[in-house]
Amino acid sequence: MVGDRPYRNVRLEASVRSATLPVDDPSDEGNGMKLKDKSAIVTGAASGIGKEIALVFAREGANVAIADLDQRAADAVAAEIRAATGSGTLGIAMDVTSEDAVKEGVAAVVAAFGVVDILVSNAGIQIVHPLEDFSYSDWKKMLAIHIDGAFLTTRACLPHMYRSGRGGSVIYMGSVHSKEASMLKAPYVTAKHGLIGLAKVVATEGAKHGVRANVICPGFVRTPLVEKQIPEQAKALGISEQEVISNVMLKDTVDGEFTTLEDVAAIALLFASFPSNALTGQSLVVSHGWHMQ
Ligand SMILES: NC(=O)c1ccc[n+]([C@@H]2O[C@H](COP(=O)([O-])OP(=O)(O)OC[C@H]3O[C@@H](n4cnc5c(N)ncnc54)[C@H](O)[C@@H]3O)[C@@H](O)[C@H]2O)c1
Repeated sequence: MVGDRPYRNVRLEASVRSATLPVDDPSDEGNGMKLKDKSAIVTGAASGIGKEIALVFAREGANVAIADLDQRAADAVAAEIRAATGSGTLGIAMDVTSEDAVKEGVAAVVAAFGVVDILVSNAGIQIVHPLEDFSYSDWKKMLAIHIDGAFLTTRACLPHMYRSGRGGSVIYMGSVHSKEASMLKAPYVTAKHGLIGLAKVVATEGAKHGVRANVICPGFVRTPLVEKQIPEQAKALGISEQEVISNVMLKDTVDGEFTTLEDVAAIALLFASFPSNALTGQSLVVSHGWHMQ
């Protein structure tokens, strides 16, 4: 709550299944669903990778909050996923760089679902320039969304995960650029490397509460974020768009293939549903062999 206003950034999509902790029912095994009665927040979930992860989590039985910049877009995706899966969904307008919006959004998820078990810090943008041409404001904007956003959402969720006694899973959307450099992407590469450090600290501090933290590091996936980069890179590098795809983006893959939304969501589900601290503090690359470690 902010003053007497109840969660002004939040609109509850109908049919949130439960606002309280689930009661175990031995007659209902959840039909093998991996996230039955879990509650998840996915940032940047109105589009691309985040949207697919939210859909897969909902299919696996989780209540899912769709957090994104625009309320209408978040609500539309929440409604779409609820219709497709029957799971509880919640659209939240949350700029992950705003301390207040993050606090209010996470509080609203707890009010609606009773708990937060899974955070996917996924919201992101891309800005490309040679380093010598990068404006300080663009540099700061990139770090604010990718790094400050990860910090703020993690800080808001951890106390709920610790208090619930159910443990939790924090998942950061890194990139192959968490491991490798590329031309024109100084702040992106810097931020994505930084997420691995953050995940290691969260894994260390969260262990005694059963909270795990891991990073997914995808290769190129054809989302709006990447579609925008193709002409930008073609212009900056003085090559054709097809050359950007084959000679830059997919050059080092083993098979010249894009990574898919489904590939990335499958790794998110693995991290979300893994049952113990055995898998924590890790970064997993899903990139058609672009980066091998
Ligand atoms: N697409 C790829 O090839 C690729 C590869 C590796 C990593 N990633 C990472 O995956 C994540 C998702 O990217 P995508 O490709 O799905 O992009 P996308 O553009 O399809 O989706 C990104 C979403 O983040 C939201 N967003 C942007 N700024 C925000 C903010 N301040 N607060 C809340 N939401 C915000 C956007 O509105 C959008 O809905 C990003 O972190 C990106 O760096 C993408």
